[in-house]
Amino acid sequence: MTLAATRFADARSEALPGDFAAVSAEPLLRVERLRKFFPLAGGRGSQLHAVDDVSLTVGRGESLGLVGESGCGKSTLARLLARLHDPTDGRIVFDGNDIGSIPASCFARRPDRARIQMVFQDPTDSLNPRFTAFDAIAEPLKLLERLQGDALRDRVAELASQVGLPAELLPRYPHQLSGGQKARVGIARALSVRPDLLILDEPTAALDVSVQAVVLQLLERLRRELGLALIFVSHDLNVVRLLTERVAVMYLGEIVEIGPSEQVFRQPLHPYTRALISSIPGQGPRIRLQGEARSPIDPPASACRFHGRCPEGQDRCGREKPRLVPIEARAAACLFAAKQVSSAG
Ligand SMILES: Nc1ncnc2c1ncn2[C@@H]1O[C@H](COP(=O)(O)OP(=O)(O)OP(=O)(O)O)[C@@H](O)[C@H]1O
Ligand code: SF4
Ligand SMILES: [Mg+2]
Repeated sequence: MTLAATRFADARSEALPGDFAAVSAEPLLRVERLRKFFPLAGGRGSQLHAVDDVSLTVGRGESLGLVGESGCGKSTLARLLARLHDPTDGRIVFDGNDIGSIPASCFARRPDRARIQMVFQDPTDSLNPRFTAFDAIAEPLKLLERLQGDALRDRVAELASQVGLPAELLPRYPHQLSGGQKARVGIARALSVRPDLLILDEPTAALDVSVQAVVLQLLERLRRELGLALIFVSHDLNVVRLLTERVAVMYLGEIVEIGPSEQVFRQPLHPYTRALISSIPGQGPRIRLQGEARSPIDPPASACRFHGRCPEGQDRCGREKPRLVPIEARAAACLFAAKQVSSAG
C-alpha cells in the first residue's frame, strides 16, 4: 500500500481523550486507541497488556514527557511510535499518514523512516562496537540520503559540531568514548537524517548528573533551533518538568493523566500522579503506595487498574473502569478526578 493510499481524509475527525490538550491545531503525530498485547507462551490465550487503549497527539516542535513506574509500558509505547513494534490494534497517524498499518519490517526500508528517530537508553547498547563515531553518524546518511565523499564528511562534521562532539573524537570507537560522548554520537546519528520527531527512551539514564544536564540542554536547544518534536521517556520527574511542555503519566499500560507539564506537576488530578510527584524531594509529604501493582496479564475490564493500591480508592473503583476524560486543559482517568478540580477551585 502506498503512503498516498493510506493518507487520512481527515486526521482530526474523531475527538479522543488525549487530544484536546495538544498545543498544536494540526498534530504531527496522532495516536488513536493504540494497543500492544504480548501473548504469553503456554498462556492459553492470556495476554500481557503492555500498552492499552492509548490516545495522544504531539504537535510539531512540541515536547511530550512520558512517565510512570517501571513496567508501565513507556518503552513499548516508544517502540510502537518509532515503528519498531507492530501494534495489536489502534492507529498511528504521522503527518497525516496512517503508518501504524505498515508492518515494522517494511517501515524500516521506507524513506519516511528517517522522519521518526529513536535514541535508546544506553548508548553503549545502541552503538555498533565495530563502528567509529564517524561511521555511526555516517551510516544513516549513506543509506537514506545516499551521501558519500566530501558531502558525507561535511555533514558528519556539521552534526558533530551541532551536538558538541569534538571533531577529533570522530575516528574513535565506542569503547574509547565517555558515556556523555557516546550519548552525543547517538543523538547526532538520530539527527543525521533530519527527523521531525525524536523519541528518547531514558537517553541520560546511564550518565552522571552533570553530563545529563549538558545533554538535556543540548536537546532543548536542538528542539528550539531545528523545530524537532520530542517524546521524552524518563524516570526523572524533575527533568521531565523542566524539559517538556506536556506530560503523559502511564500506569499499567494506560495513560491515567495527560496535560501541560506545569499544571500536572502543580496540581495533579490523578491519585497515581499525586503519589509519583510526592516522590520528588521538596514536594511535601511522600505518598507511599500500599500493596502490589495488579498484573498486566488479562487485567479486569470493569475495575480501575490502580484499585487496591490507590490511597483514595473506594468500593466503586473495583466495579467501574474510569475512562480518560477531559478536565479543563487536561485529561485524567479517575472516577473522582473532576471533584479534585472543583475542590481546588
Ligand atoms: N517483547 C516483549 N515480550 C513480552 N512482554 C514484554 C515485551 N516487552 C515488554 N514486555 C512487557 O510489557 C510491559 C511493559 O514493558 P516496558 O518495557 O514497556 O516498560 P517500561 O515502562 O519501559 O519500564 P522501565 O521503566 O523499566 O523501562 C512489562 O510488563 C514487560 O514485561
Ligand atoms: S478510580 Fe478509584 S482507584 Fe482509580 S484512581 Fe480514582 S480513586 Fe483511585
Ligand atoms: Mg523502558
